[in-house]
Amino acid sequence: MPLAGKRILLVISGGIAAYKSLDLIRRLRERGAEVRPVMTAGAREFVTPLAVGALSAGHVYTDLFSREDEQDVGHIRLARDCDLIVVAPATADLMAKMANGHADDLASTVLLATDRPVLVAPAMNPKMWAHPATRRNVETLRKDGLSFVGPNAGEMAEGGEAGLGRMAEPLEIVAAVEGLLDGGAKPLAGRTAIVTSGPTHEPIDPVRYIANRSSGRQGHAIAAALARLGADVTLVSGPVTLPDPKGVDVIRVERAEEMLQAVLGALPADIAVMVAAVADWRVATANTEKIKKKPGEGPPPLLLAENPDILKTIGHHAQRPKVVVGFAAETQDVETNGRVKLQKKGADVIVANDVSPETGIMGGTHNSVKLITAAGIEQWPDLSKDAVADRLAAWIAARLT
Ligand code: CTP
Repeated sequence: MPLAGKRILLVISGGIAAYKSLDLIRRLRERGAEVRPVMTAGAREFVTPLAVGALSAGHVYTDLFSREDEQDVGHIRLARDCDLIVVAPATADLMAKMANGHADDLASTVLLATDRPVLVAPAMNPKMWAHPATRRNVETLRKDGLSFVGPNAGEMAEGGEAGLGRMAEPLEIVAAVEGLLDGGAKPLAGRTAIVTSGPTHEPIDPVRYIANRSSGRQGHAIAAALARLGADVTLVSGPVTLPDPKGVDVIRVERAEEMLQAVLGALPADIAVMVAAVADWRVATANTEKIKKKPGEGPPPLLLAENPDILKTIGHHAQRPKVVVGFAAETQDVETNGRVKLQKKGADVIVANDVSPETGIMGGTHNSVKLITAAGIEQWPDLSKDAVADRLAAWIAARLT
């Protein structure tokens, strides 16, 4: 019972995704959590308090000015008498109210009065999600310290329009809840993960090498996020200037060959996330002495040899981890190339991104990725590399459950 003894206040606002909140209540309760629901007037247009009350096995709170509810716990106690508040679905309107500190109904008042952590699972039409007003509100809420899970891409429940705005699946929300609850059991506890990160350096001679622009930020953030969810993480890192992530075993390597050996040495594992920008080629025979300029001879030729493909090796290994995640750094045809890599490398998912110089992703702090699986493609919004890492870790946890 990973959430045994945890009390969750679930705020349900008025969107069609409210039907998924019924399943969310079940999922939270089967993990041992106690769920106290608050419904907005809009939410009650989509699902009935009767259904919500039956699943949560308790009172459903709906009115700010209900004498009965106020006598029961009162809105201030309701706001604080819990370990976490989950807003699912969070409509554009409720998020706008939250970002501006409105308190004109029970849900918004509770959210303003609380001192507990808040997890928001937005759900709305893609155009509403993309609107500058919603972008500003999300940014404000993030700055205020609220956490987000989703939205995902895909067909909207109302049909027709596709895009970003679908509420995260109940199991993804549960994984995010478990990640946020301090001391709560971790969804990846007892799981092992191998993460590669950073560039590799392929020596030309003792003083020169071939390298690339990878900073290791995304890989290190993923190692840290998996560890926060309880995984036992081995991070195999190429040369980077970053500090070691907390609670992670770090193996430092330079060359692709060394990285492969370190990864194979860390098997078996439940999860492999190959983020490193491994050099595809090494110098066939690196000089043991510094290459000297020889007058009249011109530059020395560099004969290259192909490096092992670490992801492909792991994706087809006899001890293949249950979840194998690859990245695809592309400058063109991101989706097509990502799909080819998914297949060729034996991965469960390819996290593809456009690393053209104008995106500033390579070496930068933000990332804009597409998740490519056999089931389809999911575009994630532009997020910090830390946020991509948290979301990917939650995705992996949900996939393993
Ligand atoms: N990868 C790897 N070993 C290699 C090359 C790549 O493990 N020798 C992994 C990366 O860590 C990443 C994925 O494979 O998860 C894709 O890397 P990328 O550089 O995008 O693709 P390549 O296979 O190198 O193909 P190309 O450079 O032709 O795009």
